[in-house]
Amino acid sequence: MKLFDTHAHLLDEAFDADREALIASLPGKGVVHVMECCCDEAGIDRVANLVARVPFLYGSAGVHPHSADEWTSETADHIRAALQRERMLAVGEIGLDYHYDFSPRNVQKDVLDAQLSLAKEQSRPVILHDREAHGDMMDLLRAHKDGLKGIMHCFSGSYETAKECLDLGLFIAFGGALTFKNAVRPIEVVRRLPIDRLLLETDCPYMTPVPFRGQRNDPSLCRLTLEKMAEVRGEDRETLADALYRNALTVYEITE
Ligand code: NI
Repeated sequence: MKLFDTHAHLLDEAFDADREALIASLPGKGVVHVMECCCDEAGIDRVANLVARVPFLYGSAGVHPHSADEWTSETADHIRAALQRERMLAVGEIGLDYHYDFSPRNVQKDVLDAQLSLAKEQSRPVILHDREAHGDMMDLLRAHKDGLKGIMHCFSGSYETAKECLDLGLFIAFGGALTFKNAVRPIEVVRRLPIDRLLLETDCPYMTPVPFRGQRNDPSLCRLTLEKMAEVRGEDRETLADALYRNALTVYEITE
């Protein structure tokens, strides 16, 4: 079984003590590719440098809504330059977070708007973060509908919202939250979505699946989310894993 964790943060300090050993262990656990997601401008070169020396890793460049107020006139060029480097494929993670509101909402919207334009100009997929901001998020995505491609990550919305994302051409990714006891709505969405638009992710070190909730998450645990997905959809694990793997290659435009 080949697994592709489409959203990880292996550069998080939670991995400082054992990052190299953990990364080296992943292929032996069936995780053959990981997308390392960038969160802020300082992370852009760190992600590109990590990806450059680990051949099964891919990377993104972008500024998370939490860091939107760090955006400067030079940030877009910094992202453009990183996207020219090896296996740097996507613009992310970008979006809106009205739960924490670490950056003012108008700044979050402007920075998302700029990065959606940049992704289109570079013809790259986006990795989207939407927390309690569905209305403004969908407005911005609709405004950028032409040429839009990518992933709605850690999806927690309704089936109707998921359907809107599908109509915009997006893939929808689920992680450990699917295994939580209160995951009624995501389970309903996973059950109803077409198999060719689903993705597997961890968002590690966060969102650790049951029964390891409370401990550090890592890409190998996306297997538990896959098992839950297969159970919910009544599908064979191997068949589903194969489909999710191919979906990840498709959305990130990887040919192998
Ligand atoms: Ni993330």
